[in-house]
Amino acid sequence: MCGIVGAVRRSEPVLSALIEGLRVLEYRGYDSAGVAVHTGEEVLLCKKQGRLANLEAALAASSFAAGSAGIGHTRWATHGPPSDANAHPHLAGGGQLAMVHNGIIENHQDLRVQLLEKGVEFASQTDSEVLAHLFAVEFAAADGDARAALRAALAQVDGYYAVAFLLSTESGPAIICARQGPPLVVAQGPGGTYLGSDLLALLPHSSDVVFLEDGDIGVLTADGFELFDADGNPVERAPKEIDWDPTEANKGPWPHHMLKEIHEQPDVLARTVFDRMDEQAGDVVLPGLEDEALRSVQRVQVVACGTALHAGWVTRYAIEELARVPVDVEFASEFRYRNPVLVEDTLALALTQSGETADTLAATRLCRELGARVLAICNVQGASQVREADHVIMTHAGPEIGVASTKAFTAQVAAGILLAIRLGRANGALSAERAREVLHGLRSLRFQMEQLLTREKCEHMRSVARNHAAAKGFLFIGRGINFPIALEGALKLKEISYVHAEGYAAGEMKHGPIALIDPGMTIVSVNAPSPLADKMRSNVEQVQARGGVVFSVGSDQATHDLARDVCSVPPTLEILSPLLNVIPLQLFSYYIADQRGCDIDKPRNLAKSVTVE
Ligand code: F6R
Repeated sequence: MCGIVGAVRRSEPVLSALIEGLRVLEYRGYDSAGVAVHTGEEVLLCKKQGRLANLEAALAASSFAAGSAGIGHTRWATHGPPSDANAHPHLAGGGQLAMVHNGIIENHQDLRVQLLEKGVEFASQTDSEVLAHLFAVEFAAADGDARAALRAALAQVDGYYAVAFLLSTESGPAIICARQGPPLVVAQGPGGTYLGSDLLALLPHSSDVVFLEDGDIGVLTADGFELFDADGNPVERAPKEIDWDPTEANKGPWPHHMLKEIHEQPDVLARTVFDRMDEQAGDVVLPGLEDEALRSVQRVQVVACGTALHAGWVTRYAIEELARVPVDVEFASEFRYRNPVLVEDTLALALTQSGETADTLAATRLCRELGARVLAICNVQGASQVREADHVIMTHAGPEIGVASTKAFTAQVAAGILLAIRLGRANGALSAERAREVLHGLRSLRFQMEQLLTREKCEHMRSVARNHAAAKGFLFIGRGINFPIALEGALKLKEISYVHAEGYAAGEMKHGPIALIDPGMTIVSVNAPSPLADKMRSNVEQVQARGGVVFSVGSDQATHDLARDVCSVPPTLEILSPLLNVIPLQLFSYYIADQRGCDIDKPRNLAKSVTVE
């Protein structure tokens, strides 16, 4: 949460690079945005509450063009409401330096009191500003030794940070930065040196990026960057070549990133799955996950958050079905603070699009402490989760910019199914013949997904959404491997439409939620041809008998016959049905949000990638 950019250029003005970087990172926070530029003589500051467009308007009205070093920030508020004053950068040291921060300074109140006693004046209510002044005090005391000052300042801080300071050094304007928790990436481009909290901000300048490790300090000048480890020793971190095309993060002709990303799913599935399938052998190829690595796995512990957790739930059904290995699934935020018991030979499975979700990282670190090996299913190359895991299955969804996750979810589910096949083949629970049947089904899914995304289907979903846009509440129900799809459908709807929606296991309805049913409620039934189809149908009849309005998604015609609205999905194996059923639910949420006039790519109170608790 929050986006950070920085650049020190040789001669070109820096402002356009900062604004372009912030535009790419706006999905990380959009309460306010700001930039600070060093002209060589002074630090200029401009920051505005609201979207980046407000900052751009303010800059257009100023004479802010000069200066080849600068930092910028787009904020997701933690301490202090969104306002111009609380926006970053924060100035300190009599306006001689500026700072941007992502994270939380937990002891900010104590530090604020100490700084006030020293006569420091605060301009904001943020925890971050404390760090700016702490550094300024130490910088003044360290006789211009910025690294010593930063180490001294950070030693007083409890919390998590990616932080960057813009300041003057003997050799000219520079940036000094540090990381403990949230990510920071640096790169050397043709015209200078660049910094970002997200590699997407760097890709226009270089495809070779360097991730700071926790505890690292980086110093950026126009000629390059130097990194120092937690003990202050110079350190080399291997550059990572990123093969994403920076234009993939553009919306192109689509009205929203979310709609573009929904439509990318057939290709994402193909990229994530097809090259890994060995239909002849009835197996999949996952480097590092050969028989030796998997044969001994006794239990799988899934930890993830939000949509990624729902993909973890689907993976649970797939692994138990195909590999007969027991799987536990838990919110990473709960798991990390329990005193969990892991049996010997547990494989911890972290699913995460960003690879930077704080709770997921902490939960997997705990798993490792408890003796488990960690396997990450992750989308972002070089992310912390990837670097820390013992094994990795990368999803090939490309950059996901819409805050509501769509293509990353289907990629996670597809990768989870590949893992289930590999595990089942490694431990002997899965025959080559059954594996071939699933692989064959996967091969057909790309075309089947495309059938759900035709213009005609989308128009149909738009009109279904219109029928339900005024409902007072929504219950999504499913059974078996489609129960997590009910959870996911409800999450998508509430996060972008701000209407109340719950996902429920259909068999639980009579234990309470059926009391909610009346003609104002829409019930979204997610079904699949399965031994549970009859039971699903009778659950739908029961809600219908109580006046609930039913929208039926899936391939069970008998359930469709009961519904007011229907989205038929092509028939596939039950185990693969979540990958199709979720698509109409994503479109349903999208069109309801559109009809309600919501800001689909930037839903209120949210931001992409929860890098703080
Ligand atoms: C919802 C959504 C979130 C994320 C969750 C985990 O649409 O995107 O629920 O799934 O914050 O994020 P990652 O996958 O980056 O760990």
